[in-house]
Amino acid sequence: MVHEILYLSYQDVNSLCISLESIVDAVEDAFKQKGMGLVEMPPKPGIHPRKDSFIHAMPAYLKRSDAAGLKWISGYPENPARGLPYIVGVFVLNDPETGLPLALMDATWLTAYRTAGATAVAAKHLARGDSEILAILGCGTQGRSNTLMLTKVLPLKVVKAYDVNNKSLESYEAFVKERTDLMVIITSSPREAIEDSDIIVTAGPLLKEPNPVIEADWVKPGTSAFPLDFDSYWKPSAIASMDKFYTDDIVQFNYYVKEGWIRPVEKVFGELSEVVTRTKPGRESDYERIMCMNLGLAILDVAVGKLIYEEAVKKNAGRLLPFL
Ligand SMILES: NC(=O)c1ccc[n+]([C@@H]2O[C@H](COP(=O)([O-])OP(=O)(O)OC[C@H]3O[C@@H](n4cnc5c(N)ncnc54)[C@H](O)[C@@H]3O)[C@@H](O)[C@H]2O)c1
Repeated sequence: MVHEILYLSYQDVNSLCISLESIVDAVEDAFKQKGMGLVEMPPKPGIHPRKDSFIHAMPAYLKRSDAAGLKWISGYPENPARGLPYIVGVFVLNDPETGLPLALMDATWLTAYRTAGATAVAAKHLARGDSEILAILGCGTQGRSNTLMLTKVLPLKVVKAYDVNNKSLESYEAFVKERTDLMVIITSSPREAIEDSDIIVTAGPLLKEPNPVIEADWVKPGTSAFPLDFDSYWKPSAIASMDKFYTDDIVQFNYYVKEGWIRPVEKVFGELSEVVTRTKPGRESDYERIMCMNLGLAILDVAVGKLIYEEAVKKNAGRLLPFL
């Protein structure tokens, strides 16, 4: 018997040019399966070899898609200064029948786009349909992927960008202008980016002892906020002032609160999967200020990892490595 594994590097995955719409669909379907109780996803165990660093194991099984896999992903805040990505890792897709690994792929691209896919699904269900102004705070990998993905679900016209690093801002502006019709406004403070914006995405560093700056009165009625860096950017009083607070997984949310990575939130209104399956209401007025804090779910990696694998097989991409 001969078994081979398909190996896909970052370049292999990136060059597949997977449509952003198909990622939104795959992510939304994963949330649907979660809402219907059709997923197996134990809370992610993690190790923390350096201050503010993490390496997480993220296994999941989606029953309706019959898709199984594991992401082993690290976040090292000092990496960008070394010329390395902040978030890097690998994803293994398994054959659910035999358990054999089918593919080993870069998980950097996967993480960038499945996370942005989750923001897009949250925006589709929770944002005002006429949202035109987007604020991006932290214009790195997630800032870029989230901007692209949000243009697929909202009629965005303007993005107000803020970053502490001018090089990040310059490459963000070039990236967005090359790929979208958005007008890019570079701002000089978080407040300038946020005021008047309909959508706020914060994608700065995730810190265990953060120094948050966003105040409640910077956020206008009707705004939707999607922090990717947990509560590192948001003052607890600003989070408490939201009309509704959602997350992607309450068990994980409570775990991070217990471990001191997130400050407690008085009322978690529901999970995004409950909104997607319509078991909990989403936005109920144009004036609500809504936050959905997605922490990142393994089911999204498996759903998008399977999509990448299928595209790669169709296009004969990557390299087959001998295994058994
Ligand atoms: N929730 C999820 O599923 C998920 C998944 C992946 C990443 N993340 C989080 O998203 C965040 C961004 O990750 P990334 O891969 O884009 O990192 P990145 O290093 O590519 O980008 C971070 C950007 O933030 C900028 N920055 C640093 N301090 C800042 C500040 N105070 N204000 C504004 N910008 C600042 C940096 O200059 C850089 O451009 C991290 O917090 C990461 O943990 C969340």
